[in-house]
Amino acid sequence: MSKPKILVTRKLPPAVEERLQKDYLPDLNATDEIYGQEELIKRAKDCDALLVTVTDSISRTVIEQLPESIRMIATFSVGFDQIDIAAAQDRGITVSNTPGVLTNATADIALLLLLGAARGAGNGEHAVRQNSWKNWAPTGFLGRDLTGKRLGILGMGRIGQAVAKRARAFDMEIHYHNRSRLPAEQEAGAHYHASLEALLPYCDFLSIHAASTPQTRGIINAETLRALPAGAIVVNTSRGDLVDDDALIHALASGHLGAAGLDVFNNEPDLDPRYRALPNTFLLPHLGSATLETRNAMGFCALDNLDAFFAGKPLPTPVTP
Ligand code: DGY
Repeated sequence: MSKPKILVTRKLPPAVEERLQKDYLPDLNATDEIYGQEELIKRAKDCDALLVTVTDSISRTVIEQLPESIRMIATFSVGFDQIDIAAAQDRGITVSNTPGVLTNATADIALLLLLGAARGAGNGEHAVRQNSWKNWAPTGFLGRDLTGKRLGILGMGRIGQAVAKRARAFDMEIHYHNRSRLPAEQEAGAHYHASLEALLPYCDFLSIHAASTPQTRGIINAETLRALPAGAIVVNTSRGDLVDDDALIHALASGHLGAAGLDVFNNEPDLDPRYRALPNTFLLPHLGSATLETRNAMGFCALDNLDAFFAGKPLPTPVTP
């Protein structure tokens, strides 16, 4: 039997592309340009599966125009909001994602954002690079401690729990909201709040770890931000569209919020430019999972799913509507 043909939409780490070349007939993307919808559909001709990433919009329109030969879409990501899962199901296309393997890397970046935002690390680094740092000053570059503060976690899945574990090492008090309460051993002393509204008043820091769904989009808005204590710090490593940019920017500019640390944005990389101009933001370019080890693991997880699919076995990490 000939090897399945896979359209790989982005350049992947060398070890992942090596395995693809060994086991499949991959159409690799050496230039790493992002394919537009038309280009993607054209390239999918005669392919058996797509290996996509968060930068591909696999909408219903795209799915309906994919060739009949496409039977599986493996996304090189834990999030799958860029894929219309119901449309894939309607076409009988199987979808997989890569949960678990990027938990630690993403939780590390959430801690970096908490620290970076609380300590004004971006401004400090900028001053050193620009040679504008004059001297050590008792009142210079003053930030806020994490130690002893309350950290609210919105979404206590794998990543939220890994953030809680790290934050405990900073003696933070953990509060969380999740669709369902965790068992006591997983809660590890964290305080459960049955709604986001109930959680917010307890958040000196708020870290967002919910998936992007119709229910969560825009959940961080003027009303929810108002419910945070004055001076609260918000960090986001999940998806930009959970946040209403106007509301967050207003809360940062007015001084209601102390700072924000953001790794993800609406319409990234063309984020709202007002974020760049604010002195109390610490901004990163969606690098939650960006370590070589993690990106390899994501690629191998996507390949494990493709392998299982073409061997007629159950997928390790299927996405279901
Ligand atoms: C994901 O996997 O969903 C991340 O956002 C990309 O690392």
